[in-house]
Amino acid sequence: MKTLAIIGAQWGDEGKGKVTDFFASRCDVVVRFQGGNNAGHTIVVDGRKIVTHLVPSGILTPHALSIIGHGVVLDPRSFAQEHADLTAAGVSISSANLKISLHCNIITRYHRLLDGARETQGAVKLGTTGRGIGPAYEDRAARRSLKLADLLDEKRLRAQLAQVLDEKQILFEQRYHVDYPSLNDEAAALLELGEFLRPYAADTFSLLHELQSQQRKILFEGAQGILLDIDYGTYPFVTSSSTGLAGIYAGAGLQGAPDEVVGLCKAYTTRVGSGPFPTELLDETGSTLRELGGEYGATTGRARRCGWLDLPLLRYAVRAGNLTSLALTKLDVLAGLPALQACVAYEYDGQHLDVSFPGLDLARVRPVYEVLPPLQDAAGLGAGSLPPSVANYVAFIERHLQIPVGLLSFGPERSQLRQLREYF
Ligand code: IMP
Repeated sequence: MKTLAIIGAQWGDEGKGKVTDFFASRCDVVVRFQGGNNAGHTIVVDGRKIVTHLVPSGILTPHALSIIGHGVVLDPRSFAQEHADLTAAGVSISSANLKISLHCNIITRYHRLLDGARETQGAVKLGTTGRGIGPAYEDRAARRSLKLADLLDEKRLRAQLAQVLDEKQILFEQRYHVDYPSLNDEAAALLELGEFLRPYAADTFSLLHELQSQQRKILFEGAQGILLDIDYGTYPFVTSSSTGLAGIYAGAGLQGAPDEVVGLCKAYTTRVGSGPFPTELLDETGSTLRELGGEYGATTGRARRCGWLDLPLLRYAVRAGNLTSLALTKLDVLAGLPALQACVAYEYDGQHLDVSFPGLDLARVRPVYEVLPPLQDAAGLGAGSLPPSVANYVAFIERHLQIPVGLLSFGPERSQLRQLREYF
């Protein structure tokens, strides 16, 4: 196997950092292809917590090359901060192990300002991460995005910025009443950041093509999840990029199909931000899951909403994401609960639905639950045969989703991972 993609099968936060780190250690190249610093991928190394936002988790594997593809929205200020934090944590970053596409879309101060103004003053509060992701992708679609290459050329940058700010001025002054950056200030700041980014800037598309031709092992690291996908997700409560395979083709480049698409799936469900959540637990069980699972956002610190596993949504994610196997995470958290349930179907307008579909109004479905034996014997998950309750839960999920579970994660440490299937 040479190419493997990791895609979130739920609403993000499925534990991608740790699983990506596991695969990255077996790969030559790790690629981010969409999203930006709205992501927060947590990896615990020897008891030390490291969170990456924009930089691929592969940066923690010394021999791997990390690539940020052109579909990513890159905030240079945030990159500089992450670079400093990772370096302080002893992670080595250089132009030898990190390449950033010259064609990456740039998030600027006005994108962050707009995101914040809309969240506080807009009619609908989406609960975004406030990182300027949506406004930056809007500019990309409107064909006025700044690209990394623009930050390396003052003339190009000023011309492009003048065009964008001219229009934004009306929004800031007349709609949101927020001070907006002047052309000179913004150009000066971005040019300085451009110099910081210059050593990493590269034609990553050709590089990736070459690496694939050389039969290198390549890992595509998705951010967020299928249910936050701009087309397949719970619109409008979604992020602004394609979080599945389409995002790989659009935002990095890949010849053929990936050999394996691993869907990341928590043993229960969480969601951060607004939007419908059929299996949400608003009772004590939900609070227990939040506390046991440390369910607070790695990027914003917001409390995550918690609920039982939702199989109609997962069946949909398997189809929408072309998932070939699953990595099941946070089993140790479920082990702390005295009872276990999973949603196997929905009742919707008098119909029985086994699987969700684009546009289904999830606020109106009624989950149908199956009661399962609790996972209280999950402590011995590390070695030997699987504890019966865990084996039963895994078989239950496989039966319902018709794809194998290939990895089990049962704690934050790198070592708390069990492989049920060979990948690389
Ligand atoms: P945005 O991506 O900041 O525009 O936020 C849009 C929605 O996606 C909000 O509900 C966010 O909470 C959610 N979101 C964005 N990134 C992540 C992530 O990495 N994990 C979980 N939720 C996310």
